[in-house]
Amino acid sequence: MGLVLRMTLDRPAPARQSKFMSITTCIFDAYGTLFDVSAAARQAAETPENATLKENWPQLAEAWRRKQLEYTWLRTIAGTHIDFWQITQDSLDWAMEAHGLHDARMRRVLLDLYRELAAYPEVPKMLRQLKRLGMSTGILSNGTPDMLSAAVSSAGITQDLDACLSVESCGIFKPHISVYDLVSDHYGCTPGEVLFVSSNGWDAAHAAAYGFATVWVNRAGDPIDRLPGQPHRVMTDLTQIPELV
Ligand code: LAC
Repeated sequence: MGLVLRMTLDRPAPARQSKFMSITTCIFDAYGTLFDVSAAARQAAETPENATLKENWPQLAEAWRRKQLEYTWLRTIAGTHIDFWQITQDSLDWAMEAHGLHDARMRRVLLDLYRELAAYPEVPKMLRQLKRLGMSTGILSNGTPDMLSAAVSSAGITQDLDACLSVESCGIFKPHISVYDLVSDHYGCTPGEVLFVSSNGWDAAHAAAYGFATVWVNRAGDPIDRLPGQPHRVMTDLTQIPELV
């Protein structure tokens, strides 16, 4: 009985396997998925002028990111949309004040670094492999077109992405359904042909509920979100994405 149960659990469920068989288009969330959102605070803390960040840069980065996401959801609920660059500045202001940091120069440095966030090390090779497999590739992000183009170009991955889709085309943040609609509208494909990859559990959950084949990149080892939809795969980084398609 125990053996039968174990064999069943070890075998990938046929429904899950088939979920990846018709993929033509691989779409990535940007911040936290392709780009390391904690890199700005980490890099700033490495310079002598920002010595005050040496101890608490991880807490500052965490508070900045958490407030940034909260502001996207709150402004969506309240119907008071502003773009993600303004949200990124507002959330940094909150996080700096919460950490007793009142330094306009440091604020400028952090924002400049955020515009040119480092990509995770496996990103360029993984995207090139997908292109070699004949996949269409792209980003679907809360980021503004300007932010995305700066990050993609500083990471040197412009040529490996067919499109950078920004929520600014529909004026509402993730996980609103109109954001996920941007993919089919742009690529002329069905949701079932899309592999969507996000490190944000809530983004992966809603994308799965929408109908995308979905991978949650759970770098932090977080519990799964209790939301509609569940990712079809959970990975710790992006290295194995090309094996799925
Ligand atoms: C994005 C945020 C959610 O890139 O990380 O859309």
